[in-house]
Amino acid sequence: MTGRCHRRDVLKGALAAPAMLLAPARSGDAGMIAPTGRLYGAAVRADTIAADPALRRRVAADCGWITPEIDFKWNALEYRRGGWWFERADQIAAFARTHDQQLRGHTLLWEQSTPDWARAEIADKRDWRLVERWFDGVLGRYADAASEWDVVNEPIDTEQGHRGLRRTCFQRAFGDGYVARALHAARERAPTARLFVNEYGLEYANPVERDRRTALLKLVERLRHDGAPIDGVGIQAHLDLSKGPLDTIAITAMLREIAGMGLRVSITELDVKEADRSLPLATRDRLIDDEVRRYLDVVLAEPAVRGVVSWGVSDRDSWLQDGIAATGPAALNRGLPLDAALAPKPVYWTLREAVGGGGGRHQV
Ligand code: XIL
Repeated sequence: MTGRCHRRDVLKGALAAPAMLLAPARSGDAGMIAPTGRLYGAAVRADTIAADPALRRRVAADCGWITPEIDFKWNALEYRRGGWWFERADQIAAFARTHDQQLRGHTLLWEQSTPDWARAEIADKRDWRLVERWFDGVLGRYADAASEWDVVNEPIDTEQGHRGLRRTCFQRAFGDGYVARALHAARERAPTARLFVNEYGLEYANPVERDRRTALLKLVERLRHDGAPIDGVGIQAHLDLSKGPLDTIAITAMLREIAGMGLRVSITELDVKEADRSLPLATRDRLIDDEVRRYLDVVLAEPAVRGVVSWGVSDRDSWLQDGIAATGPAALNRGLPLDAALAPKPVYWTLREAVGGGGGRHQV
């Protein structure tokens, strides 16, 4: 596949004629081969894609990777103890299979997606079999469906944590070793998947994020040293225009350290929170695009980075709207590739050019 203009034209043509995209895009389609060998993907929710054929077409055409935004979480699959509910997760897995997309299993252990009943029971009984039972349920069904799993999500807390680890129900009940233990338990049930630890707050030049980078590297070093089955590190990359400049030097250093430990990196939750939503739309979109360009320039220079997932496709569905009382489309945060009407913004083209569009389906 060739140059930038051609890719752009192909994709613009595709957008102008959505009917062409009804059929699943095939990896061999002319003009859709990613030049980078990396995957681009997005987080989606089963209910949102089920309700919107146009969104479905975009996700089918553009994504080589799918992350379930909520449907694989413990509080989605087993909201009530023993009341397993697989319908929506099954829909996501089927969507990915139909469209030849890889799935990121998100997420096995995350304090915030642990149902209240499980949190209480873990605190009360401190019985690791509760975790194993959950892993049996989710991995018993989806181990083979996903090529990567975020086994532990957001384990770092350098402000109120214990030696850099967040004081979650898991850390309190099972000690700091819970991360390694979770990786082993996941490996037993998903022998061929890549196992990840996924973390946020690692991008900016401030003391908190500096400490968080250090703590994450220490954790990963310890896991490697102890022989825990970790294959990669997920960097969430929730960018934020109010946080000042990206610490590009520190990001590069962190990625090189991770790569030096023989691990790969996925950018797992890219989006941009705006600092000033009163500016003209074109200015806002430029600021967002500039930030993503700066970020991608740094991370994609590192071969360990195998792909980029944005945390949603359209601003309409972004979690960043939580707390924003929308008085119209302009009030929404604009930090995802498509606007609320599914029109592409500059950052859409930036992602396609840098990472690859629907053709980024096949990892090398
Ligand atoms: C968020 C979803 O986007 C929301 O819809 C949900 O209510 C809460 O979780 N870090 C993560 C993701 O790892 O799972 C979170 O997703 C966003 C922050």
